[in-house]
Amino acid sequence: MSDQNRIPQHVAIIMDGNGRWAELRGKERYEGHAAGIEPVRASLRAAVRNGVKYLTLYAFSTENWGRPQKEVDSLMELFCQSVISETPELVRQGVRVRMIGERSRFSEKVRSYLARAEEQTADGKILTLILALNYSSRSEITRAVRKIAARAAAGGTDPAAIDERTVSEALDTAEYPDPDLIVRTSGECRLSNFLLWQASYAELYFPEVLWPDFTEAEFDRALAEYARRDRRFGLVK
Ligand code: IPE
Ligand code: IPE
Ligand code: MG
Repeated sequence: MSDQNRIPQHVAIIMDGNGRWAELRGKERYEGHAAGIEPVRASLRAAVRNGVKYLTLYAFSTENWGRPQKEVDSLMELFCQSVISETPELVRQGVRVRMIGERSRFSEKVRSYLARAEEQTADGKILTLILALNYSSRSEITRAVRKIAARAAAGGTDPAAIDERTVSEALDTAEYPDPDLIVRTSGECRLSNFLLWQASYAELYFPEVLWPDFTEAEFDRALAEYARRDRRFGLVK
């Protein structure tokens, strides 16, 4: 039953378990985050190989700012380093990098590195990699509501004409299709403020594997699980 229709167009991953992976090895949390880079590469390779068109990775939530400063700093450094080291390979693979979340909270350095990665990969046609950075769904929806309200107050939008499409188009994800499959590693069964609007009809999959141990084979397993699901969208066959 693995025809083309069974390949999700958009896979979104909540990359969780780095801290526990490090703890199990008597390492610092930041070492767990560093070990989380190879699984990103593996997921990209598997996504490209399977013909997935959009891959969203939840890399840093708005709540994650509340972690110890040392951990936050090491994550920022890791974002900068990996964006630089990975960009040539992303270009080679035809991957276009985009971002969702509010980037104004990042330092000038982080913002310029991210902008450079977006520019250098802008022509990628094979897959769009969407990094959720300083992202949370409630903050995204709140910003969308603010945008729509401002247009309405200025007389540009009739409140009675606001529909689901108006909301979708005001979100950071306006240009992208909704995720078909959301994967969260480490066995936690929650969304933690990730794509709440967009996940309305997504299939959810919660493998036990910790993110640093996630491999191409694990990605394939997630797709196989997806292929077995019967998506009904509230309808009857
Ligand atoms: C996910 O791993 C990475 C980020 C949130 C940045 P965690 O750091 O949440 O790992 P655990 O959940 O503590 O194991
Ligand atoms: C969600 O993981 C955020 C990311 C993976 C970037 P968390 O580890 O921050 O979420 P909770 O605290 O377990 O809900
Ligand atoms: Mg976690």
